[in-house]
Amino acid sequence: MDTKISASILSADFGNLERELKRAQESGCDMIHFDVMDGHFVPNLSYGVPVLKSIRKYCSLPFDVHLMITDPLGFIDAFADAGADHITFHLEAADNPDEVIEKIRSRGLTAGISVKPKTPVELIYPLIKKLDMVLIMTVEPGFGGQGFIPETLEKISALRKEAERQGSELDIEVDGGIGFNTSPKVREAGANVLVSGSYIFKAEDMAAAVASMRR
Ligand code: DX5
Ligand code: ZN
Repeated sequence: MDTKISASILSADFGNLERELKRAQESGCDMIHFDVMDGHFVPNLSYGVPVLKSIRKYCSLPFDVHLMITDPLGFIDAFADAGADHITFHLEAADNPDEVIEKIRSRGLTAGISVKPKTPVELIYPLIKKLDMVLIMTVEPGFGGQGFIPETLEKISALRKEAERQGSELDIEVDGGIGFNTSPKVREAGANVLVSGSYIFKAEDMAAAVASMRR
């Protein structure tokens, strides 16, 4: 499976998002990762629908929206209208995950579910066939720039094995502490979509940083 890089703009310069999006696209990123935090599901606030709507036009890459919010169902239409291409929500935040998946699909978007580091990945197994992507959090959600949690590698390999057993070509995305050092480990475990924020945005040469994660 080809490795895709999703640039987390949580680490971008918010004073110049147009330039930052162009920089990510020109540096060879495959997607833009848009982290939405509500100060409730996670202890931090970021940005939401109006920001996505404003910046969508500055970049032709798909927008990979990561909802770290309680009650995701009520926000699917707004993010779809604003230009999201893919939406991932948290299993821990949804009473009825099937309903959220169906809602995302009904808007013509691809759907993903995420689990926090301490949530068992097995809980997702019954949903694999309905999903395009599963996001394994490799840090506690809420902040960029944290250290990778190595125990999450086992969850990635268990999920890849189970997806193969079910005959699914599931995208497995990892998010948190991903850079040059951790990318070989997560790819070997079975991840094929790598979110990266601080490593690529703070790099002197962004294109070289992106390329280093594919090697
Ligand atoms: C954390 C976010 C991540 C974050 C990753 O809650 O979901 O997308 O921006 O940042 P880095 O790559 O800096 O760990
Ligand atoms: Zn994220």
